[in-house]
Amino acid sequence: MKISNELKAKLEEIYQTFLHDEKILKMKNIPMHRGSNCYIHSFKVTKLAIKRAIRHKKGNLEVILLAAILHDYYLYDWRVEKEKKNEHLYKHPSIAIQNAVRDFGIHEPVKKAIETHMWPINFTHFPSSKEARIITLADKTIYIKEIVCSSRYKKKREQKYLKQIEKLFDK
Ligand SMILES: [Fe+2]
Ligand SMILES: [Fe+2]
Repeated sequence: MKISNELKAKLEEIYQTFLHDEKILKMKNIPMHRGSNCYIHSFKVTKLAIKRAIRHKKGNLEVILLAAILHDYYLYDWRVEKEKKNEHLYKHPSIAIQNAVRDFGIHEPVKKAIETHMWPINFTHFPSSKEARIITLADKTIYIKEIVCSSRYKKKREQKYLKQIEKLFDK
């Protein structure tokens, strides 16, 4: 699917606003897999989800953009807050939704896509919309890419990742 320059510019503008938002920047303090952190991970998922949605002509791009950016907006580090560790896998999507509603006022389709992104781990939360399925698949793809990276060169990789997420649409 080819999208209009207008829509492209609108999506890029939303992406840039979130990328530099001080509340979103807090996700940088939450380490994730090997050199990545919650901030990098979320924007990598966003770029991939949007790319696939455009390629396969699926879903509402604005819903996908918001849900991908906010899908892991749970804002705690379960490695530090140990009492959250056991429930993290199952509970973090609903915590991300609560935080996103409080800070950005997201609407129903976005909430739905966030809620089901851990499927099939959260087996009863099946991603029933196109947007939700794109998010859950993009999340798994990025997760796998992150964990198969060696833990060496962590700092270098972080810099590389930050460069990769500077823009939603690469030239
Ligand atoms: Fe997640
Ligand atoms: Fe994720």
